[in-house]
Amino acid sequence: MIIKKAVFPAAGFGTRFLPATKAIPKEMLPLVDKPLIQYALEEAKDSGLQEMIIVTGMGKTAIEDHFDTSFELEILLKERGKDELLKMIQNVSGLVHFAYTRQKKPLGLGHAISITKNLINNEPFAVFLGDDIIDAKVPAMKQMIRVFNECRSSVLAVQKVPKSQAHLYGVIKGKKVAPGIYRVLDLVEKPKENPPSNLAIIGRYILTPEIFNALEKTTPGKGGEIQLTDAIKILLRTQEVYAYEFDGCRYDAGDKLGFLMANVSLALKRPELRNDFRKFLKGLKL
Ligand code: G1P
Repeated sequence: MIIKKAVFPAAGFGTRFLPATKAIPKEMLPLVDKPLIQYALEEAKDSGLQEMIIVTGMGKTAIEDHFDTSFELEILLKERGKDELLKMIQNVSGLVHFAYTRQKKPLGLGHAISITKNLINNEPFAVFLGDDIIDAKVPAMKQMIRVFNECRSSVLAVQKVPKSQAHLYGVIKGKKVAPGIYRVLDLVEKPKENPPSNLAIIGRYILTPEIFNALEKTTPGKGGEIQLTDAIKILLRTQEVYAYEFDGCRYDAGDKLGFLMANVSLALKRPELRNDFRKFLKGLKL
């Protein structure tokens, strides 16, 4: 059971970033100088995944263009001797395989996953929610694959959050079985009150293919959408599911404040920007 495939749901409307996302997919908003979705994709690639399945929708063709080869641009950069830039854009499209499928109606995250069934073909696979940017020494998904190799069951990324924030997440009830690893006993999507714990699901999942049967049984939940969390709860009836507290710093780049924080902290890590940007920030005298 080697994990080769990664699913990236990217069909959402990005309403939290209007008006910026009226004509540009949210996934293409730049974080420093790379579109949001590229961070998750690079994490997948660095974790050894080779087949990227992107679930798109209306108005998302810029994502396909971004990961395609740009012949004209490559010729131009070659002619101008811009080798570094050339290498950079070739890296974007090279080495991995892409497949695209369209979610025709915004019926929720669970629905987006369910339409990849034929592309997944009965094997365990990874899911990346591109809004969650995880800055980590060892890519978060690589850490999760290690856990999967031990437990051979679905693995959800979790992080401790203040209970006051629990209503923004799927929240698990777990039994600690090893440092940072929990057996999931129950889970609930965006609990209004009394969350079962402070362990919130972050947008990285390894799922066994039985999730597709569970998704078929899942009825609309929070917000009238087919929720992945509800499907995992159904999966729990027949299989063990684990949660893993990964090492790394996570930003919710799907939220304006989180997006700004991610920009600032990732820019401060760039050697070419670090010093001047730091000076600028210090000069703000907040
Ligand atoms: C989704 C999931 C939720 C999870 C969150 C992590 O919610 O439904 O369970 O905690 O991602 O970012 P969304 O933020 O897309 O509403």
